[in-house]
Amino acid sequence: MVIKRYLKTIFYTLKITEALALFRERLAFYLSKSEIDFYFKKIISHYFDLEATTLALTPNHVFESQEVKQLKEVLSDLEKQKPLQYILGEADFYHYTFKVSEDVLIPRPETAELIEWVKESYSDTQKTLSLLDIGTGSGCIAVSLALANANFKVYALDKFQHALNIAKENAINLEAKVSFFKHDITQNFQWETPLDSIVSNPPYLISNEKKQMRPNVLDYEPYSALFTPDKNPIYFYEKIVSFAQLYLKKNGYIFFEINPTFVKSIVSLLEENSYSNIEIRKDAYGKERMIKAIKN
Ligand SMILES: C[S@@+](CC[C@H](N)C(=O)[O-])C[C@H]1O[C@@H](n2cnc3c(N)ncnc32)[C@H](O)[C@@H]1O
Repeated sequence: MVIKRYLKTIFYTLKITEALALFRERLAFYLSKSEIDFYFKKIISHYFDLEATTLALTPNHVFESQEVKQLKEVLSDLEKQKPLQYILGEADFYHYTFKVSEDVLIPRPETAELIEWVKESYSDTQKTLSLLDIGTGSGCIAVSLALANANFKVYALDKFQHALNIAKENAINLEAKVSFFKHDITQNFQWETPLDSIVSNPPYLISNEKKQMRPNVLDYEPYSALFTPDKNPIYFYEKIVSFAQLYLKKNGYIFFEINPTFVKSIVSLLEENSYSNIEIRKDAYGKERMIKAIKN
């Protein structure tokens, strides 16, 4: 009996179709079939270098015992609703793959739209421009901007060293020139370089939004990257605007990713601080998600 069990663990193999069926069965409680299939293809590509077409072209492909062990570990993490990006240690964002860990927010597709907006705002400019990403996290905004236009001189800051470590690794891996700084935007600090643009996707959720959030976000993503004080949801925007009063050049731009619920308060904040040409853009889901304004 013991030997039989031992042999089973050593020689346990699984056909690719059986493995997929197992994933579909065990994850159906929170993922749709198409999500599971998408995840499965990502996993077999990441760990075993198998093309997504393997499923259709060689349905008899067999995973050996070590591979089955690996698949089961991933499946067990997914059952706990751990985001796939944290399991794989990487996330696709904009045109690149970024290293991620539970120290940083998983970059979201909405944020890529903000990068496009910055890029398009400077498409006619040939001069060197200084841009600062506040709350850089994985560095996804800063690195993507640095790679988007050779005229962008990109700076990035975050309060947390463990996030900055990931961001720096991403800049090195993707060969982007970004200068990183550890600063808390809620505190006063000296900044050396006058800025042409400030770009930020600061924490913008309040606690009553937790009800609509899936456990994969709430249980795994860093609280300090997601949540703003309930008593002042635009707290980080206020701090960034105060910083911009000192260090953003006249006619410089502010680009914010925003919580659609607080769009009016953020527009008022910008108007009170004499910003003009305030534009709001919607994300792919039709939600007001981004703001651009010019400092007068
Ligand atoms: C919503 S996340 C954005 C991360 C990344 N820029 C992105 O778009 O995926 C907000 C970031 O702000 C950082 N942060 C939170 N409080 C901060 C503070 N007081 N000063 C500077 N950065 C802060 C968090 O560590 C986190 O990386």
